[in-house]
Parts: sequence; C-alpha cells; structure tokens
Amino acid sequence: MTFQKDLLAGQNILVTGGGSGLGRAMAERFAALGAGVAIWGRREAPLADTVAAIESAGGRACYATCDVRDPEAIARALDAVEDAGGLLTGLVNNAAGNFLSSSEDLSANAFDAVVKIVLYGTFHTTQALGRRWIERCNGACDPTAHVLSIVTTYAWTGSPFVLPSACAKAGVLAMTRSLAVEWATYGIRANAIAPGPFPTDGAFSRLMPPGVAERARASNPLGRFGEPAELADLAAYLFAPNAGYVNGECVTIDGGSWLKEGGEFAAFVDHPRDELKATMAAMRPKKTR
Ligand code: HXC
Ligand code: NAP
Repeated sequence: MTFQKDLLAGQNILVTGGGSGLGRAMAERFAALGAGVAIWGRREAPLADTVAAIESAGGRACYATCDVRDPEAIARALDAVEDAGGLLTGLVNNAAGNFLSSSEDLSANAFDAVVKIVLYGTFHTTQALGRRWIERCNGACDPTAHVLSIVTTYAWTGSPFVLPSACAKAGVLAMTRSLAVEWATYGIRANAIAPGPFPTDGAFSRLMPPGVAERARASNPLGRFGEPAELADLAAYLFAPNAGYVNGECVTIDGGSWLKEGGEFAAFVDHPRDELKATMAAMRPKKTR
C-alpha cells in the first residue's frame, strides 16, 4: 500500500465514467482507502459489475445511470446516489468521449458529441454538485470538498485528429483554474490530472491502431505506458487531507511524453546514443588558442 488504509475515510466521492478504465481504477482505489464511492455512466452493466467488485472487496459503492450531456439527468442521478450512499464530498470528472477523425471531415453532430460529454458534462456535473455543497455548508465547506477533472496533455499542446477532445479538455482545464480561485472562498478545491497513454479498452480501441500503439510505447521516455493503479494513487493523494493546499494544479502523469514530443531536439533521443555523441563531438569547433 502506498498510503495508510483509511486515508480517505469519511469521504464520499462521485466518479463519472466510473464503470470502466481509469474511472473504475480510481473508484476501486478510493473505496480500498476507506471512501464511499458513487459511479455514473450510460451503460448499467459495467456500473453494476464495478459496484459488485468493490463491495466484494469490502468497500462501499453505489451507481446511477446518467448521460452527463443532460443536466436534468445529472440532477436525478445526484439525488439517486446521495439517497443510496449519503451526501457526496468529492467529484472526479472522468467521463469522456473521443475518436480519431480528420477535422475537415467532422460533422456538426460529431463535434457536439465529444464536446457535450467532456466540456458541458463536466461543467453541468460540477455546477450541480458545487451548488449543493455551497448551500449545505453555508459558504464554509469541509476542506475535503474537491473537484478533480481528468484532462490530457494535449489540453495545452493541442493535437491533430482529436480536435473536439482537445478543444473540450482545454476548456475543462480553464474551468479547473477558474473555479480553484472562485470556489476557494467556499473551501472547495479544484485540480486536474493530465494522463499520457494508459491502455484502456475505451481509449485504445478508438485511438490507437496496433502499430501506432507500439510506436507510442517505444517513443515514451520511460519506454512504457502508464498503469491505471499509478493514476489511481495520484488521484487518491489529491483527495487526501494532506493535499488540502494543492489547488488549481494540473498534474501530468505521462512518463515525460509530452515534454519529449514538445522539445525542439527531443527526437535526437531516438538515435543510438554513442552515434549521437560522436556526431555532436564532430560538430564542436576546434580550439584555435
Ligand atoms: C467520425 C464519428 C466517429 C468517428 C462517431 N462519429 N464516431 N465521426 N469518426 N470515429 C459521429 C457520428 O457519425 C455522429 O455524427 C456523432 O459522431 C455522434 O455519434 P454517435 O455514435 O451517435 O454518438 P454517441 O452514441 O453519443 O457516442 C459518443 C461517442 C462514442 C463519443 C461517439 O465514441 C462514445 O460513446 N465514447 C465514450 C467512450 C470513449 O470515447 N472513451 C475514450 C476516452 S479516451 P452524425 O453527423 O453522423 O450524426 C480520451 C483520451 C485520449 O478521451 C488520450 C489518449 C492519449
Ligand atoms: P473509457 O473506459 O472509455 O472511459 C470513459 C467513461 O466515460 C466510460 O465509463 C463511459 O461509460 C463514460 N461516458 C462516456 N460518455 C458518457 C456520457 N455521455 N455520460 C456519462 N458517462 C459517459 O476510457 P478511459 O481511458 O478510462 O478514459 C477515462 C478518462 O481518462 C477520460 O477523461 C479520458 O479522456 C482520460 N484520458 C485517458 C487516457 C488514456 O490513455 N486512457 C489518456 C488521457 C486522458 P458509458 O459508455 O457507459 O457511458
């Protein structure tokens, strides 16, 4: 265990998209660390399966089906999980939609589908729960009140072929930094995590053709993809009582990938190092004095 086992005791955390992939990994980790968890998604089967797994491991969990594009469904699902599992103290905006497409080929509906899940869904869920917190705590929320949003490194670099997702994740990052200041008045923190590639079915089936996945793995500075458990531990830390001064931050967990892609001479690291050193030495001006 990275943490003491009751690290998140007393917290009750909603994870949107918690029935699969990284959302499920976070929900399971939070529950193992003593939090109650609530999970949302559109499909009932993965939600029920995740709740059963958490309960059989001794944790507390409940679910509600919800399409986060629909503010009325969000209100109903908040009521459902607070009735079943108690008042929520934390939120992970993890639900997302994405696919590869040339931007010139996107239909209006295709752009909407992604932006409405990622940006609108995150805003509507955060606002609906934030309003409840502000009303309940009369402007002085417990320091565990925390909104964590899962973005991605191309929220700030942009990326070809995933333009709706890049636009939406950039918006979620701006929302995080805006609320970190605005809602700190109420004791509510807002942070983000920017993962690099983590091999989940949802992401890789849509975004990583087999050959590309191998190249992405090989070109990562650490030579590997992330493990969902590593991301779940980072998220758990951000919900821990001792993280109470971390606010408005976006923590990257990508093995150094975006820095490598972004550096002017980063591609040099793919050359054999001895050859590269010999080339650089040959380029060095000879001493004349
Ligand atoms: C072009 C596409 C498309 C594609 C759908 N559309 N897939 N256009 N290329 N591959 C278009 C459709 O034709 C339609 O437009 C519109 O988008 C809506 O499609 P629907 O299938 O009706 O939408 P819906 O059932 O709501 O599904 C939403 C979805 C789907 C986003 C399209 O992929 C989904 O449910 N995704 C959820 C899970 C997910 O995406 N996980 C990955 C997260 S990974 P028209 O005009 O025809 O009506 C991630 C991080 C990646 O975000 C970072 C990796 C490093
Ligand atoms: P995933 O398994 O496909 O997760 C997406 C989840 O969102 C699913 O559980 C899905 O459930 C839910 N969802 C989608 N649309 C929804 C909607 N309209 N309403 C409610 N729930 C909805 O993929 P993942 O890789 O774990 O992604 C999790 C998060 O990490 C996302 O925010 C993603 O952008 C981010 N991320 C992932 C990677 C990666 O490499 N895996 C990299 C960077 C960022 P339903 O389909 O049942 O609704």
